Amino acid sequence: MKVSIIGGGGLVGSMTAYALQCGGVVHDIALIDANKDLAQGQALDLLNGAALVADQRIHAGDMAEVATSNVVVITAGLRRKPDESRLDLINRNVDLFLGILDQAKAAGLKESSYLVVVSNPVDVLTYLAVQRAGLPWQRVLGLGTQLDTARFRGYLAKRLQVPATQVNALILGEHGDSMVPIWSSAAVNGLPLEQWPGFGPNLQKEVFEETKTAGAQIIKLKGGSGFAVGLSIREVVHALALDSRRVLPVSTLQMGAYGLRDVCLSVPTVVGCGGVRQHVELALTQKERLGIQQSARVLRETIQQVEARVGSVRAAAGRGQQPAPAAAPAPAAATAGNGRTIPRAAWQRAK
Ligand SMILES: NC(=O)c1ccc[n+]([C@@H]2O[C@H](COP(=O)([O-])OP(=O)(O)OC[C@H]3O[C@@H](n4cnc5c(N)ncnc54)[C@H](O)[C@@H]3O)[C@@H](O)[C@H]2O)c1
Repeated sequence: MKVSIIGGGGLVGSMTAYALQCGGVVHDIALIDANKDLAQGQALDLLNGAALVADQRIHAGDMAEVATSNVVVITAGLRRKPDESRLDLINRNVDLFLGILDQAKAAGLKESSYLVVVSNPVDVLTYLAVQRAGLPWQRVLGLGTQLDTARFRGYLAKRLQVPATQVNALILGEHGDSMVPIWSSAAVNGLPLEQWPGFGPNLQKEVFEETKTAGAQIIKLKGGSGFAVGLSIREVVHALALDSRRVLPVSTLQMGAYGLRDVCLSVPTVVGCGGVRQHVELALTQKERLGIQQSARVLRETIQQVEARVGSVRAAAGRGQQPAPAAAPAPAAATAGNGRTIPRAAWQRAK
C-alpha cells in the first residue's frame, strides 16, 4: 500500500510518516509539501532509519505521487495569526484545502483511493472533501475525535492508575469545543468505569477538561501536537490497509445514525476495506445523544457560512457523488457503509 502525505514536511505530516514507518505495514510513503526542501529533509531523516525498521520506500515527491497512491492523507494547514478570528482562520484553511483537493484531482486522484483529512477544522474540511473530491463518501475519512479519544483514554488511565491500553472510552461529535465524552460505555478492560473506585463527577469534569484543552496546552508548550496525532492517523491508515474493521471515532458523512445527516462528524465507525463499513448506533444517554446533535448543529452552521462564501463546493457532474438518501435507522441499529440500516443483532453476527 502506498500512502502520500500532503503537508508531509510539517509537524503532523512528518510525525505521521514516522508512525507509519514504525508500524511497518505500508510499503511506500511519499511526502508532498509546498516547502520542498522540508519534505526532502524529513524523507531523508526517515530513510536514514530504514535499515532499523522495515522494508519500505520513503521519499519526497510532488502532487503526481497522488495518482499512484492508495491513501492520501492531507495535513497541510495554516496556523492562527495573532488577533485572527476563528472564522478568518477557517476561511484561509478552506481556500488552501480546496486548492489542494483540486490539485490532487488534476494529478489523477483515483476513485479507489482513500482520502484521510487531518487539517483543521477537520469536520468541515471532511465535508467539503466529500462534496468535492469525487470519491465515494465511504472513502473520505476525517481524523475527527480519534486524537481526542486517545487523549481521553490516556488522562483517564493516569487518574485511575491503570494502563491506557486497558481504558475503553470514546469522545464523539465535533473535533472542537462541542466534543462529547461518552461516559455511559466507558470501561477498564470491560469493567464499567462508573463502578470504579474513585470515579465520580469531579474526576469526570477534570479529565474531560484536560482532554479538551490538551491541544491548546501543547501548542503553548511546543508549537503543536505531533506524536499522538501521528499515531492516531496510523490507526486509521492501518485499519484501511489491513481491513481490520476497527471501530474508530473518525469523522465521516452522516447517513441517519443518531438522527444526523448532511454533516461530517465522529460517531463509532467500522473502518476497513472500502473505508466506512458501518456507522454503529449505540444506546447513549440522552445528554450524550443531545451533545452529538449539538455538535452537528455547530458544524452545519460553519458549513453554511463557508458555503455562502465559496459557493457550492459540489464536484462537477460525472465524478461527484451525492450522498444517497438513507432511511432513518431504528434505535440500537447500525448503518451500513452503503447507507443501509441493519439491525444490531445482524451487525453483531456480521462482525
Ligand atoms: N485533526 C486533528 O486531530 C489535528 C491535530 C493536530 C493538528 N491538526 C491540523 O493539522 C494541520 C497541520 O498542522 P502542523 O502542526 O503539521 O502544521 P505545520 O505548519 O507544521 O505543517 C503544515 C505543512 O503544510 C505545508 N503546506 C502548506 N500549504 C501547502 C500546500 N498548498 N501544499 C502542500 N503543502 C502545504 C507547509 O509547508 C507545512 O510544512 C493544521 O491544520 C492543524 O490544525 C489536526
